[in-house]
Formats: sequence, structure tokens, C-alpha cells
Amino acid sequence: MNETPFSTIVEPFRIKAVEPIPFTTQAERRELLGRAGYNLFKIAAQKVTIDLLTDLGTGAMSDRQWASLLSGDESYAGSRSYEHFETIVRRLTGYRHILPTHQGRAAERILFEAVVKPGDVVPNNTHFDTTRANLEHVGGVAHDIPVGSTDAFGGNMDIAALEQALTGPQRIPLVMVTLTNNAAGGQPVSLENLKAVRALCDRYKVPLFLDAARFAENAWLIRRREAGQGERSPAEIAHEMFALADGCTLSAKKDGIVNIGGILATNREDWAERFSTLLILTEGFPTYGGLAGRDLEAIGVGLEEALDPDYLRYREATVAYLARGIREAGLPIVEPPGGHAVFIDAARALPHIPPEQLPAQALSVELFLEGGVRTVEIGTLMFGDAARHELVRLALPRRVYTASHVDWVIETAQRIAKRLDRIPGYRIVKEPPLLRHFAATLEPLV
Ligand code: F0G
Repeated sequence: MNETPFSTIVEPFRIKAVEPIPFTTQAERRELLGRAGYNLFKIAAQKVTIDLLTDLGTGAMSDRQWASLLSGDESYAGSRSYEHFETIVRRLTGYRHILPTHQGRAAERILFEAVVKPGDVVPNNTHFDTTRANLEHVGGVAHDIPVGSTDAFGGNMDIAALEQALTGPQRIPLVMVTLTNNAAGGQPVSLENLKAVRALCDRYKVPLFLDAARFAENAWLIRRREAGQGERSPAEIAHEMFALADGCTLSAKKDGIVNIGGILATNREDWAERFSTLLILTEGFPTYGGLAGRDLEAIGVGLEEALDPDYLRYREATVAYLARGIREAGLPIVEPPGGHAVFIDAARALPHIPPEQLPAQALSVELFLEGGVRTVEIGTLMFGDAARHELVRLALPRRVYTASHVDWVIETAQRIAKRLDRIPGYRIVKEPPLLRHFAATLEPLV
């Protein structure tokens, strides 16, 4: 496909198994919303026509991945599947010690429990919410230092802020960089930025870890956007990214294209030993972690497939196609679109709804009501007063939806765009003390 003269970018697969999607009437959806307290996490997936809630664990495995499941070796210790997994992860990352975990947050929990003491500070371009929660759980302090721009590498870390943190009074057990920066619109981090972070970590002798959940998308966007990288393979770029760090946490439910799985890997001998002990305590023996042998086989295949340039070209094109459609419908989005999702700026789309009336949730509810499209609010409902933006994330599961599914989402946005000024704000009727967005009950202010 690399040499094709065609300008159309098609899905680089054909469909071998299908899963019906439900269609509902608007009256049904209105009733469902009422019963769910206008909280989309409480809507049954069986009532969602297009589900863009998350790209976590929602991807479609390939025929090779499904076939690999049968060759899973379920031995407690020293399984052949672990050897396959280890070989592939080592080839990709270069790290010496490779541990499977059940998902990304398990790797985060073990990492922080092993190396963070109460009061320690961890700088990160932006902690994802599970990363922050796991760090705070052991008494650490999450220090977000995104570059805060919307250029081609809006995911970058603020280098001056990093140096300031490293020369400050607090102990910094490690620095983390999240690739791509999910909380900043799925924006990539450049190699240049990663090298600058590495240089500072070397100077101040602090280890660097990657949160590499979307490593393949980050590598692809480096190839597409960074000067001098256009001829390199995504695998080569990914390898360089990993080589700049001392280890990584990785949720395989994203760029591993599996429904469950994670990785904790490092070159540091001393830390690896501590990780193994904690892994055995709650996840499992180091040659299977929190997974079955067959899962390890599927992750290995998925990690390689995620670096296929044809796949990544299609992935980027799908996100860009959705972004163009939403933008042309008249809804403002975070620009440029990142690697896995389109983020609608609800504060600009609904200027008549103040933050305390949850504009992004209002828009998210409307997308479901109009077209059965499920998205997630990333704004005041999720973060309370600490919210920096009012965004609606439309995350694209990997290899699941075709271009006409995306057209459906765009048509939904077009229909809503005609009546933005009539969309009501919401108020919270009931909320739990923690992670309120998952369980809160709301009502419209009409
Ligand atoms: N790091 C990043 C950057 C993530 O986006 C996520 C999950 C995790 C770590 C945690 O990994 O879920 O396998 O334990 N992100 C999901 C999302 C929940 O919807 O963006 P996990």
C-alpha cells in the first residue's frame, strides 16, 4: 500500500466476524437517559449505536491474534508464551526486565509502591487519572508540566519547568513522560523533547519512565510531524523512544490491541527485583503476571501489528476524517487532532452554559440523544473545580468502526450543531465522594 497512487485511505483489513450494533429510537434514548440520571456510564452498551467512550480494551483483534490464543501455554512458571512475549517486548523496547500485568494501572501501582516515598514528587507531561491516583495512593505528589501549546507536539513536557522541579527541594524518585498525552488531547511528544528530558534526567541522575500506552501512535505522529523523521519506520522510532528511558508502564489495551493486558519493564536491576516481588504478591508469578498464557501471545502479535505503517496511516486518517467532519459541522475541536480521539471544545460550542452547569456533559448527553453515540466528558463533571477545559472526547476503538460509522457520528454532530443554543445545562443531584463522573446522577436545568 505504501506505493499506491490512490488518494483514498481504506481500512487495511477485511471483516471476518461481525457483531450487530443496536439501533434505538429517540424516544427510547430519552427514556434511557432519564433512567441513567444523564450519566452515560450507566447506559447499557446494548443500547449504544456507536460507542466512542474509550479506546481502552475495545479494539478488534486480528485473525492472527485469535489464532495465537490457541497456542497459549498456561504453565505457572517458565511458559513458552512468556518467552514469545518477552522476545517481542524486548525487541520493541530493548529493556532487560519485562513483567506482564493485567493492565496499565497495575504496572503503575507496582512502580510507585516500589520507588515512591510519601512526599516525593513525580513530574509528568500530564498524569493520566489512574497514574495520578496510584501515585497519590502511596503519598506521592503528581506534578503536571505540559508545554501547554497546540502545535504539532502539544503533548511535550515543559523543559524549563522540569529543570525547576529537578533543582527544587523535594525528592524526585523518577520523571515520567506519557506518550501520547491523553489528557492533553492525545497529542504526541517529539523525539527532540524526549531527548531534552533525558538530558536533564542524566544531569540530575533521576530515572526516566515512559507511560507508553499509545507508543505506536506517538511514533507514527513523530514520523509524520517531526523534521527528519519521515523516512524512518514506526518500529525504529518507537525503539528510539524506549531507549531514551529507563523503563515503562504500558497499557496493552491500547496499542497492544488486546482486550486485557499491561507491561512493566525496566533496565534497572535493583528496581526489577522489587517489581517482581510486588507482582507476585497481587498479580501472579513473573512469567504470567495478571494474565493467562494465551493473553501474552495475543499481546505479542498486537504490539507488532500496531507498528504496521498501513495500520497507522489508516488510524491517523480515521481520526483526521472524524475531526474534519466535526469541525465542518461547526463544532470547535482541539487542534490539531491527536492520535486516538477527537476532543470537542464544549466551552466554545455552548457559551451559554457556564462550567458549573457542565457544558461538556450537556453536549455528550446530546450526542447520545441524537444519534446513540456514546462519548465521555472531560471537564467539570470529571475534575470538579480543577477542570482546565470542558471537552467531549470521541475516542476511536482500534479496527472496530468503518468510515460509514464515522459518517453516522458526523451526521449526529451536524444535527446537534443546528440547535446548540437550545441545549440545557445540568446540575448534579447525587454524587459519590470519589471519581464522581462514573456514578453521579444529574438532571437538566429546564
Ligand atoms: N496511561 C494512560 C495514558 C491511559 O490513557 C490509561 C487508560 C492508563 C495509563 C491506564 O491503563 O486502563 O490499562 O489500567 N486510559 C483509558 C482511557 C481508561 O479511556 O483513556 P489501564
